[in-house]
Amino acid sequence: MTTESDTKVRSTETARARDRRHLWHTWTPLTADRSELMLTHGEGYRVWDADGNEYVDGTSSALSAICGYAHPEVTAAVTRQLGRLHHFDLSRGSHEPAGRLAERLAGYLPPELSRTLFVNSGSEGFDAAMLIAAGYWQHVGTPRSRMVTFALGYHGATLLSRDLSALPRVAHPFRSPLPVTRVELPVTAAEARRPESLPLLLDAFEKAIGDDPDDVPAAVVVEPFLNVGGGIVLPPGFLRGLRDLCDARGTLLVLDEVFTAYGRSGRMFACRREDVEPDILITSKGLTSGYVPLAAVTVQQRIHESFGRDPILGGIRYGHTNSGHAVACAAALATLDVLDRENLVARAEHYGTYLRARLAGLTGADEVTDVRGTGLAVVVETRSGDTAAALLARAQARGLLLRPQGPEGKAVLIAPPLILDAEGAEFITDRLERSLADIAG
Ligand SMILES: Cc1ncc(COP(=O)(O)O)c(C=O)c1O
Repeated sequence: MTTESDTKVRSTETARARDRRHLWHTWTPLTADRSELMLTHGEGYRVWDADGNEYVDGTSSALSAICGYAHPEVTAAVTRQLGRLHHFDLSRGSHEPAGRLAERLAGYLPPELSRTLFVNSGSEGFDAAMLIAAGYWQHVGTPRSRMVTFALGYHGATLLSRDLSALPRVAHPFRSPLPVTRVELPVTAAEARRPESLPLLLDAFEKAIGDDPDDVPAAVVVEPFLNVGGGIVLPPGFLRGLRDLCDARGTLLVLDEVFTAYGRSGRMFACRREDVEPDILITSKGLTSGYVPLAAVTVQQRIHESFGRDPILGGIRYGHTNSGHAVACAAALATLDVLDRENLVARAEHYGTYLRARLAGLTGADEVTDVRGTGLAVVVETRSGDTAAALLARAQARGLLLRPQGPEGKAVLIAPPLILDAEGAEFITDRLERSLADIAG
């Protein structure tokens, strides 16, 4: 007799076989089998796999699910919009969710940052930001295209975004599309956040910007927290100092808050911690909680206005079929409602501080070299990529999903949904401590 559980096992094996035969997994060695973690559903900050295992998701899906899984309000907003008007091309007309969302974003930001272009991913947002920065200088009569950035920065997978980074994972076989000056971190990842590192970092950027009046950069482009680069926290005053340097040299400041925005950093936007106003702000991930792809490029008014001088269109020559997709905008509006009502920004700061304090003790273990973070992005840096891999595997076996960051993969990132509660925070610390004991033993 075939039982229900036999049928389930067979269908999971079929799904795995299908996956192994046909699915090309992103950023994955061909020797790895991602179908081993076959997720079926989620609720809140928990997910379940096809084998019936339950996990606390310390990775927020793709570092995006700030409202957690199956949030009824976001799900209902998506369904409602799908049944009404799934989308209309914003180059031919408009729809209400896009305008409402652009207005909503302006309401969270200083008055000058009031114009938003929507795209579908952080990488696209970055490409658009580069085109906008270079376009602006053309329109105001001083063309320039050089970009200054962190060598360890990560801005996406498109050619332009990967070209800016020196991370080996985004090396590409093409000629560089832009002149770029990449700033190496002058201190270790663990030292970067210390106040003593501030002058060293600013000095490195000042040198990279240079003082040649014929070679002023189009923009300085940074993440407020080097996420993929190793979970690196920058010292207090860094963004303020960078803003001042950009102003002194007459270049633009572009902030990539794809990861940090919408509460992840313990502020609505990480740049607001230092009251810094970028010229261009790129956000994504948390914007829709990852329910539907969407990214936003928000610019200062004068930059938007300069595009009236574009000689071919008199506007921005950029867009995608699904730019500002109505369902994505509806998902974002619902996500922001949840974020505001459930005080997720304050919650991220609270549980991030709690986790860092609880986990600080791990630095006593031989395997852990540093514990740091910003908001609800907590990093446990281990001795090596192998140690981190072992820790991740043990944590997963104990019901906690985490991910490695950094070029050597030795930083373990804990970035759960911002709806985390005391029980979830306790689970994370307990499972991490036990997993570390497993590998130390
Ligand atoms: C800081 C930052 N910028 C850009 C990106 C690229 O975004 P996407 O993967 O949506 O293209 C990421 C993705 O992890 C990111 O962390």
